[in-house]
Amino acid sequence: MTQSREEHIMIPEADLDGVSVDTLAVRAGQHRTGELEHSDAIFPTSSFVYGSAAQAAARFGGEEPGNIYSRFTNPTVKAFEERIAAMEGGERAVATASGMAAILATCMSMLQSGDHVVCSRGVFGTTNVLFQKYLARFGVSTTFVGLTDMDGWRDAVTGNTRMLFIETPSNPLCEVADMSALAELAHAHGALFVVDNCFCTPVLQRPLEFGADIVIHSATKYLDGQGRCVGGVVVGSASLMEEVYGFLRSAGPTMSPFNAWVFHKGLETLPIRMRAHCENALQLARWLEQQSAVEKVYYAGLESHPQHQLACRQQSGFGGVLSFTVRGGQAEAWAFIDATRMVSITANLGDVKTTITHPGTTTHGRLSPDDKALAGITDNLIRLSVGIEALEDLKNDMKRGLQALQN
Ligand SMILES: Cc1ncc(COP(=O)(O)O)c(C=O)c1O
Repeated sequence: MTQSREEHIMIPEADLDGVSVDTLAVRAGQHRTGELEHSDAIFPTSSFVYGSAAQAAARFGGEEPGNIYSRFTNPTVKAFEERIAAMEGGERAVATASGMAAILATCMSMLQSGDHVVCSRGVFGTTNVLFQKYLARFGVSTTFVGLTDMDGWRDAVTGNTRMLFIETPSNPLCEVADMSALAELAHAHGALFVVDNCFCTPVLQRPLEFGADIVIHSATKYLDGQGRCVGGVVVGSASLMEEVYGFLRSAGPTMSPFNAWVFHKGLETLPIRMRAHCENALQLARWLEQQSAVEKVYYAGLESHPQHQLACRQQSGFGGVLSFTVRGGQAEAWAFIDATRMVSITANLGDVKTTITHPGTTTHGRLSPDDKALAGITDNLIRLSVGIEALEDLKNDMKRGLQALQN
């Protein structure tokens, strides 16, 4: 006889009642097989076997819970989903093949032709393309507004608006949205409020507590934390997630068991990593702000940031991503980037290794010049995802960039 998943659960949920997010990161969603392994097992299998034809029929018919086929049921994926759902304070999570698949699965399961979305301008470039180019083809229209422009949000909402979509802090300018106000606006119009919580993670911010209906992650970023796997996840109420799960089962943008295992382990160190990222980023932002070749630093932890107070209310830390403009244009930004010798020139973020990016020609390169200008993506903008290397070594590498601007 096959052993049901329920029999694998060795840690009763009640033991985790009221524990902190740091403890949930390590203890939630833990399952043990009969081998009593301490580190979680991985189940790299495409399908599962049944004790009898009748049991197979009961599983497929939904009368008996349990594993069927890894496009939509896999114990390793389930373990990751349970852990991140607990950390976000959501009833259920659905893991996906990438962060973009998480956004697509949310839109495909929540929207239909004729619906309207209001999306903040300061979102990851590919999110913008997904809404503008692809969802538009299926009759879903999108209006983009400035993240902090509350009048703009109110004006953009129509009778057909079914979703308000934001990132906060935004990529790459670290603008901070008033989540409670946007949730109230969305709900007053019967729309869903969806937050991409990639930059903060549940360690620093839990959007569901501020009225969000759905939280999205690119697990590729901080949840992994070491730049190994691409993945995503959607978190929310059981009823909304049943819809997302239904789409996943039918369309198949599934997370692999191996990636789920990496993310599940990644979550265990997330709280401690986030604190290290926040500390380094704040110190580096303060230091960059003092450099004469730096025009402006964008980081919500700085007192000079326009939404600093709001960030203090919504977040327990300011995250590891900051952006800054250098005096000059693209040539100067590229010269700065090329002069660095330790940080990695790559488009990923959320890694323990510091990464440096020129958003205008990479992550946001597919935006039209007008959209770039509206989103504040200037040619002289550089994004840093500050890692956990020693602060002095990071400053020394940034000094090489600054030196290049003086030459
Ligand atoms: C804020 C944000 N959301 C979503 C995504 C998309 O995630 P993925 O690359 O895992 O598809 C990214 C990727 O950079 C991102 O920065």
